[in-house]
Amino acid sequence: MKKLFILGAGIYQVPLIKAAKKLGYYTIVTSIPGNYPGFKYADKVYYENTTDYKALLEIAKEEKIDGVLTAGTDVAVISQGYIAENLGLIGPSFETAQISSDKLRMKKSYEEFGVRTARYRGIQTDDENYTEKIADLELPLMFKSVDSSGSRGIVKVNSPDEFEAARNIVLANTRTDHFVVEEFVEGEEFGAQAFIQDGKLEFILPHGDYIMQGDAGVPYGHYAPYDLPDDIIEDVYLQTEKALKAMKCENCALNADYIIKDGKVYVLEIGARGGGACLMDLASIYFDFGYEDGVGGYHEMIVRHAMGEHIDFFPEDSSIMKNGVPIFTNGKLVYIKGGVANASRMMRSDRDGVIVSLEDLHEPDPDIVSVQFDYKVGDQVRKFRVSPDRLGHVITKGKTLDDAVDLLNRTLDKIHIEIE
Ligand SMILES: Nc1ncnc2c1ncn2[C@@H]1O[C@H](COP(=O)(O)OP(=O)(O)O)[C@@H](O)[C@H]1O
Ligand SMILES: [Mg+2]
Repeated sequence: MKKLFILGAGIYQVPLIKAAKKLGYYTIVTSIPGNYPGFKYADKVYYENTTDYKALLEIAKEEKIDGVLTAGTDVAVISQGYIAENLGLIGPSFETAQISSDKLRMKKSYEEFGVRTARYRGIQTDDENYTEKIADLELPLMFKSVDSSGSRGIVKVNSPDEFEAARNIVLANTRTDHFVVEEFVEGEEFGAQAFIQDGKLEFILPHGDYIMQGDAGVPYGHYAPYDLPDDIIEDVYLQTEKALKAMKCENCALNADYIIKDGKVYVLEIGARGGGACLMDLASIYFDFGYEDGVGGYHEMIVRHAMGEHIDFFPEDSSIMKNGVPIFTNGKLVYIKGGVANASRMMRSDRDGVIVSLEDLHEPDPDIVSVQFDYKVGDQVRKFRVSPDRLGHVITKGKTLDDAVDLLNRTLDKIHIEIE
């Protein structure tokens, strides 16, 4: 039986574990100990930290794994790259993983390759004169921890008297000796799931994000389609291609963030991994790759790719090729319009506390794709500040995006979670 090593046992790795099992692979999962849902699905569990890449490589060698994978989080990507490279497996290289997991290295590589991105400076954490270095950047600014995700350690700053407080938040959220300060790009933010295989960008799927405004925006849901004018799609494609060259990225799923300002696309960041927060689900549904019991066809493709298979995402006879409208740039398939509209939202708590009641009265509907609760009555939960604080999710689809969103709202209205 072929073995897949999955880094992380959290909510966003569970679909990978399930997909791998469905495909007949033996699943080995590692995570720090804790109440993580992935453990119970795994064939074998290790309690090694997903960031301890040297220890994980030893396990991988000992187990003679055939593939290594993570998704939905940046922290384990470095380990994935390290193991894949050392064992000659498919995945991001160690260098790609390192660039994609450090916002300063990413910005430097983008600058070098002419990718459109916000103007920035790299600052050492012990640099007391850092304000001089950022004096020529235009306010407002973003102070950014380079190695966190889910908007932790990302702070918007409107005036110099906020610099110190912002820097302190960044320092509390980084394990490195540097951080990034960049200009705030005022515009329309959106994300995309994409895939690069053997150096060829296979597709880009832009999606809309439901964003909660805090220190920085925190997405709590997503939707597709997010149709953009063809010239913007082309620019998304061109900037992304350049960014992937900059990151030396050849073989992995991608999770990208962009902002459009004055008709131009700025790359915020690209992670060398599939997105969390129902995003691999979104791609599965939009492209009609199939979806069953929390596992999407896209999850399965990501797993098969990590196991060394070449993936044909869009065969001629697939429903998306028959029903959708492929958009080409320079003869390359860039995006497919007319996929299955869908939307997702996380359930969130407005306080720290314990779940005292959980009531789900939604009517069954074939367009409700998934209703998932991450906790049960009696569990301790956190006020929603970052994505992992979620209580669960609802995913719906529809003939139109409006239908999907309407059903999403109606379903959520029937779910009551009380927290004290
Ligand atoms: N330069 C910027 N201009 C405008 N908004 C930004 C900028 N950088 C970050 N943001 C906002 O902060 C969020 C988180 O920043 P990001 O760099 O994507 O870090 P994370 O790894 O936490 O997702 C973004 O989704 C966006 O809403
Ligand atoms: Mg981001």
